[in-house]
This record gives sequence, C-alpha cells and structure tokens, in this order.
Amino acid sequence: MNRKIAVIGAGNVGASCAMYLAEANIADIIILDIQDGIPQGKALDLTQAGPVRGYNAMLTGTTEYKDIAGSDLVIVTAGLARKPGMTREDLLNKNAEIVGGIGKEIKSHCPDAYVIVVSNPLDLMTYHMQKVTGFPSHRVMGQAGVLDSIRFRAFIAMELGVAMSDTQALVMGGHGDTMVPLPRYASVGGIPIRELISQDKIDAMVARATDGGGEIVRLLKTGSAYYAPAAASVDMAQAVFADQKKLLPASAHLTGQYGIDDLYIGVPVILGAGGVEKIVELKLEDSEMAKLQKSAATYKENLKILGY
Ligand code: 2OP
Repeated sequence: MNRKIAVIGAGNVGASCAMYLAEANIADIIILDIQDGIPQGKALDLTQAGPVRGYNAMLTGTTEYKDIAGSDLVIVTAGLARKPGMTREDLLNKNAEIVGGIGKEIKSHCPDAYVIVVSNPLDLMTYHMQKVTGFPSHRVMGQAGVLDSIRFRAFIAMELGVAMSDTQALVMGGHGDTMVPLPRYASVGGIPIRELISQDKIDAMVARATDGGGEIVRLLKTGSAYYAPAAASVDMAQAVFADQKKLLPASAHLTGQYGIDDLYIGVPVILGAGGVEKIVELKLEDSEMAKLQKSAATYKENLKILGY
C-alpha cells in the first residue's frame, strides 16, 4: 500500500489499533515499541492473519524511530495504563515524559504526519504532544470523545435492543470524571432517546458512560480497556484517511470556542483529510456549559503541573 500509519506502543491498545487498521485496509502499518521482539512478533502474527481476514496491509514491527519515517499518520498509544483506584490524572507526570519523548521523535522523523493521541490523561497528553511537535493544531488531535460516545451508544442499544449502528450520542469535555455527556443529542434512528427511555434510565446510562473506562478497569483488574479505545482511534484514522468529513467528538485545540482558550478538550469537530477541519460550536444549555467550563478549569489546573 502506498500509505503508512505508525502505531506507537505495542500493548493492548496499540495491537488492537493495528488489528482494526489492518482490517480497514487503508495503509501499511508499522508498530513501534521499546520492548524488542513484541512489536515484531505482533506485526508478524497480524500479517499472517491477512489471507483469511481479507486484508492486504503489510505490518512490520520495530524498536527504532527512524523506521516510522514517511508515516502519514501516527497513533500514540504508549504510556502506562490505569490500575484500579488510579485516576487518569495520576498518570500525568509519567506519561508526559513518555509522550514528550515520542513527540520529539515524530517531529524529527515524520514532520508532516497527522497525530492521534490515545495516551492518558488524554486531553493533557494531546496538548503536550502539540507543544512538543510544534505541529499545527489541526494535525494533532486526541481520541476520547468517540470512545465515550460509543460507550453511551452501546448502552442505548443494550437498553432498547436496537442496532448499535442506529444509535447516536455525543459526549463532550475532558476524557475523565468531568466529561460532559449530552443526552439531549442522543438518538436512535433520529428519535431522541428521551422519547424512548425514562429519565431515570437515561441518568443511569449517563453515569455508566462517564464511568465507562473505570468499569472496565475494575473488571480487568490488571489494566484498562483496549478494544473500544482502539476501535474509536481507527474510526478517527479512517475519517482522516478517507476524507470522510465525519462530525464526531475529539480532543481539539480551542482558541476561544465555548469561551475556552488554549486548551485541548473534547468538542464536536469535522474530521477529514485536513485533520480537524472545523470545530463545531453548539448552543449549549446553561447547565451543560457549566459542566464544560468545570471540565476545562480542571485541565487548565493540571496543565500547570506540566509547566504550561
Ligand atoms: C478508557 O476510558 C483507557 O481511558 C481509556 O478506557
């Protein structure tokens, strides 16, 4: 294939991204990890699945950043995952060091690439990545809102017994306890969920979506979610690669939209070949806006810990 995507980190999220990317058949894939043997082994294993899974993407693994040269898109999954009892913010300093180092390598080896950050705490790591690379902000985006929204969508489908693909939902704000699910925008086949589901059940679904990552951490005990985070990342990659102009929530750099300046946080965007082509400004209700501002204030504070 004539296009190339680099996946940084060959852990559960990275390997699952590589798998879904391969099945999307949009590019060759290079998986990079510092642990020699793991990226090579997983890439070879995934390549060998190609003949029966129907993909032609070639996968390679490496420990050397020079091998990601020429990548059109880099998905950054590296970093420590949450353990039970940890918030995403607990990961802040350690992962900032890891993500900062990766940013420098991306800048030097693929200066024209688009970057999707998946490492937590997501919105802060995406900000850090943009600062370290110095890339225009439309090329650096964070994957979070798609994940939080597909969790909400899955709960709607489970509640109503309807097709997952017919559900729609929008979750804004930071990818953490202050996220802002917007149930009034959630629908099934265009019908608002409040016409189909009782308010109590909607409230319970909102709470479950907000705690969606935590619920999985508690079940797995030794790590955090990876299938849905990877699927969400690949959804964004496809939107960029196929210039789909998808309207989806992503962590994007705000410069005054929603009254928030110089911060990465989850907002609806149009994603296409130009990366974040547009930030969509919704007319939020007062209570929704208050929640978004609270989320933004939390992240502004945490940015100070990183020295911004
Ligand atoms: C999650 O929400 C790991 O942040 C990721 O599952």
